[in-house]
Amino acid sequence: MLVPPAILALVAAAVFITLLAARIRRQLSLVPSPRLGGPVLGNATAYATDPAAAIQAADVQCGPVFSIQMLFTQNIWLRSNVLNKFYVNVKEDAWSFGWGMNLFLHPVVAPGYWDHLRTLVGSLNRCINRSEALDSYAAIARDEAVTGFAQWAQTNDTALFESASVLAHKVIVRCLMGPDFYHHNVYELSDLLHKVEADIGSIFNFVLPHWVPHPAAKRLWKARDRMQDIFRERLRERASDPNRWADSEDYVSHTLRDRLTVHLTEFFPAHHTLLMFAAHTSTVASISWTIAEACLLKQCLIRSPERLAILRKELLESPSVHSSPLLHACLKETSRHYSGINMLRLARSPVTIPDSNVVVPVGAVVSISPYLTHHDARNYYRATEWFPERWLEGGEQFRPAKSADEVTYLGFGAGSHRCPGEKMAGTIAREVVGELVRNYDFGWAASGPPKDFGALDFTKIGSPWLKGDAHVRITPIAKQ
Ligand code: HEM
Repeated sequence: MLVPPAILALVAAAVFITLLAARIRRQLSLVPSPRLGGPVLGNATAYATDPAAAIQAADVQCGPVFSIQMLFTQNIWLRSNVLNKFYVNVKEDAWSFGWGMNLFLHPVVAPGYWDHLRTLVGSLNRCINRSEALDSYAAIARDEAVTGFAQWAQTNDTALFESASVLAHKVIVRCLMGPDFYHHNVYELSDLLHKVEADIGSIFNFVLPHWVPHPAAKRLWKARDRMQDIFRERLRERASDPNRWADSEDYVSHTLRDRLTVHLTEFFPAHHTLLMFAAHTSTVASISWTIAEACLLKQCLIRSPERLAILRKELLESPSVHSSPLLHACLKETSRHYSGINMLRLARSPVTIPDSNVVVPVGAVVSISPYLTHHDARNYYRATEWFPERWLEGGEQFRPAKSADEVTYLGFGAGSHRCPGEKMAGTIAREVVGELVRNYDFGWAASGPPKDFGALDFTKIGSPWLKGDAHVRITPIAKQ
């Protein structure tokens, strides 16, 4: 009897899938897996509860390469300075940053966006790192800081992270999108950002096919569509008066002038959604933690309160906030001490981990941990302390050992996806923190210091914020 071709094709497909699954299982079985809690979901639960403790415990149990099953996704972790270096240099076609982002950002980006990520990030890099652009962003940050802090000073209790988030959002919209988006849409964009943040971590985004209209997906699609409408409206207005935008330093204007990106306008909304995440969370963390640490200095005498006096003097005597070594050191230390728990790539082709039998299979998530690298006593003197002096001239003995084979500082990433926004974020943070230190006295609000300074919220994309926020009070310094 003749077997119909459709059945033959089905049988062939089933055999192929079985062989592939067996191969993946064989490869995975070479990756040790820790026992962090009960069976089945124990590891995933331990990671969700306290990711830093879970990864540290797994490292102790399994050594530098291990895997943690997160529901349907295999997350393979690499934990050594040498493997950090290896990781950041693996190319996009093997371990993809874009595909990793797509695991959770897919409901808010237009199909096809990730194919243009390199081109768009390249244009961002060229635009925002020019001195004219950085000067203009510094002026915007100064302006928003002056207005913002005048408002903070009108109340006795300011929620630090929440208020710094409003301030940073305004600066970022003005710099990246321009004055028209700022004028018409700044509050709506903030609202959209918060709505997207609230739904982007929904488990259904990971486990269901992308087309399933579950409630979180529907809300995210609505936010994506509104972002597209906002861009359509603003770009239509700009097209009717092109001369007005000829010299504008905002990044939207740059992409409209750049011949490599001008034809990609349909992807601008997705790109700016990604940038709102990339730029916002970590810049807010940088500003807020530095202010919180300064409040702590004042409160806690054993932690050298004179640092704050030195910083204020240095800022008042320097021609600009950008030439204060101590302010640079404080912000660099904040990005070391309060860095993200993980970096994430999606494996697109099998890669063998050096000095091991492990082959990372296609489809696995691969991670390293900036946070744990920065808190490792083998890498940093007083590793678990916020200690800015380590970055100052003469503080060399506190700097991490430099070896060409290792990466021990990942505050802004390294290798193929190093952050293009480092200078912009530094410029904004120095203007904002500098304005506060020079012109205001500040400390905790009447509710006192946060109960647990170690309660880091690692659920955000980027640097952690403080769970439950911190409350501060600022008062203008009387000018003589
Ligand atoms: C203090 C603030 C910031 C911190 C700590 C920070 C940190 C980082 C880190 C660690 C990475 C690497 C991620 C990885 O390899 O997985 C990264 C990438 C990136 N950051 Fe930042 N960032 C900050 C501000 C900004 C700003 C202001 C922008 C935009 C204007 C920005 C845009 C990006 C982009 C587009 C990437 C991806 C680069 C690529 O795909 O090659 N970041 N950032």
